[in-house]
Amino acid sequence: MDILLNAANAALLVAHDLRREVEVGLLLLGPPDPPRFVRLEGFRLRSYQPDIRSNAALVRRALQDASRIERETSPGVFGSKTTFEEALDRLGPAFVYAKEGGTDIRQASLPADATFVFSDNQDLTQAEEQALTDRGVLVLGLGPLALHTDHAIAIVQNELDRRQL
Ligand SMILES: C[S@@+](CC[C@H](N)C(=O)[O-])C[C@H]1O[C@@H](n2cnc3c(N)ncnc32)[C@H](O)[C@@H]1O
Repeated sequence: MDILLNAANAALLVAHDLRREVEVGLLLLGPPDPPRFVRLEGFRLRSYQPDIRSNAALVRRALQDASRIERETSPGVFGSKTTFEEALDRLGPAFVYAKEGGTDIRQASLPADATFVFSDNQDLTQAEEQALTDRGVLVLGLGPLALHTDHAIAIVQNELDRRQL
């Protein structure tokens, strides 16, 4: 949960504001009742804080009694039972997958309005990578070392800001 909440903060927050144009999808595949998908819409969020403990409460509420039909459990926070592939298709193309060894971000041509995919401390499975390949993914490298997910997201956000994408 900490990894997910820190990743969401890196995607959504700047020093004194929220990135309202950002949409975050968190996919939880652990027990007891996977898959659970929590979607955060920057422009609708009302009580989102830099403090991950209060955001954990928002996410926990979205995880309760989830069904396949998405439900808004607090402003800008949506919960559902959604698989990896369905989550990709809900967020939509173009897809960019951050992975060590991918095309160097400094040389890559980045699509506008893309869905960026990051793993947590476990790499994506072969089947998940195949789902991305089937959707024409660009595999993006961010540097020579394996970084924490939130730090990887901050690098991507900075590059998108620089290019105004
Ligand atoms: C902690 S890393 C994943 C685990 C990592 N493969 C390991 O050896 O422990 C979390 C995620 O951040 C992204 N990431 C971290 N470092 C990266 C890099 N140098 N280039 C591209 N993506 C990176 C990837 O999405 C990665 O799956």
